[in-house]
Amino acid sequence: MAAIRKVVFPVAGLGTRMLPATKVLPKEMLPVVDRPLVQYAVEEAAAAGAEQFIFVTGRGKTLIEDHFDRAFELFDTLARKRREETLAALEAAMPEAGCFVYTRQQEPKGLGHAVWCARHLVGDEPFAVVLVDDLVHARTPCLAQLVEAHAETGGNIVAVMEVEPEHTARYGIVDPGEARDRLVEVRGFVEKPAPAEAPSRLAVIGRYVLSGEIFGILDRLPPGAGGEIQLTDAMSRLLEVQRFFGLRFEGRRFDCGDRLGYLEAIVALAMERDDLAAGLHAALRHYV
Ligand code: G1P
Repeated sequence: MAAIRKVVFPVAGLGTRMLPATKVLPKEMLPVVDRPLVQYAVEEAAAAGAEQFIFVTGRGKTLIEDHFDRAFELFDTLARKRREETLAALEAAMPEAGCFVYTRQQEPKGLGHAVWCARHLVGDEPFAVVLVDDLVHARTPCLAQLVEAHAETGGNIVAVMEVEPEHTARYGIVDPGEARDRLVEVRGFVEKPAPAEAPSRLAVIGRYVLSGEIFGILDRLPPGAGGEIQLTDAMSRLLEVQRFFGLRFEGRRFDCGDRLGYLEAIVALAMERDDLAAGLHAALRHYV
């Protein structure tokens, strides 16, 4: 089974749930502890073996490109001040030249349309999609879990997790078939169903491994829920002709596009850090 070489990051979204913080700042640049969200996503993709990082950006998102570029004055100042450790961390986050590419989604037409914008950059090989505001904290990075499962089964795979019944309208929901270990066969998807219409409580989380055939489907796909071109609708058509699985990934997912999810992510990740855990624990005791 071919490795997954290309990862698409749809980063054109407006981040309206985090206004006013995201009025000027791209939501993908919001820091969790001391790194912007987009850096976690890139590190996760790199850990899964990705070689090409494809960003579908939009107006006002150029800070993302700047973040992954060399900042000469800063690097030079840190070198002169002998801040070797800080400099090494910044150097380590630099992508190899030519491995990051950017294209723009000019209109907010939905996640399916954003992924379709990357069609010429991906070609017809299997590829991954990572939604940056879904931060997954796991021993084995979530995308690596998907890629490993894909190497065994082929087909298409999405990360899934159980959600509260009253939250189905926030997610793509899976109609589950046969299950084996952490893998469940997908018989259908419904985008953001009301609880009464939801076929299960298994929600799609922002990690996908898809075959290149999805682009041919997206070419002709009419708008769905919310008047947007939905990736979920394209996946529903793809599963009529190819196998589709949900992977109950190991780890904890934080919705960092939401205030509470974002705050929880910061606490969870800071508590893992030797330099911060004790101090944060003591500070939190004042409030809880
Ligand atoms: C998107 C997808 C949805 C998925 C969710 C995961 O929705 O359309 O199927 O469950 O991401 O975060 P969004 O959160 O962009 O509305």
